[in-house]
Amino acid sequence: MAMTVVVCRGPVCGDRRDAAALTAHLAESIARRGLADRVRVAEEVCLGHCLRGPNVLVCDDDDRNPVLYNRMTVADLDRVIDRHLVGGIAVRPLMYRPPVRDR
Ligand code: FES
Repeated sequence: MAMTVVVCRGPVCGDRRDAAALTAHLAESIARRGLADRVRVAEEVCLGHCLRGPNVLVCDDDDRNPVLYNRMTVADLDRVIDRHLVGGIAVRPLMYRPPVRDR
C-alpha cells in the first residue's frame, strides 16, 4: 500500500522546532531502506495542531486512515518508519500527545 508522510513546516513546527531535521531524516531513511516506491514525503504549511508540534501526518494514498503524530523527534520518526510505514501499524504512544508551550 502506498503512503504519504506529511511533515509540517509551519511557523511553529518548522521554524521554532526544527522540523527540517525530520524531513531530512525521513528522506534519507526512505531512500536507504528502499521504501521510495511506496512512501512519498510531502510538506505542509500548518496541520492545525501547532502546540503539539513538530507534527507528522501519515496517510494512505487514498487519504484514508490518517494518523497524526505529535511532538516528533528523529528517534520517534524511526519508530514510525519501522512500525507504521514498514509494519502497517500506527504507533499509538506518539499520537494525541499533550501540547507544549515554548519557553
Ligand atoms: S505549524 Fe505545525 S501544526 Fe501549525
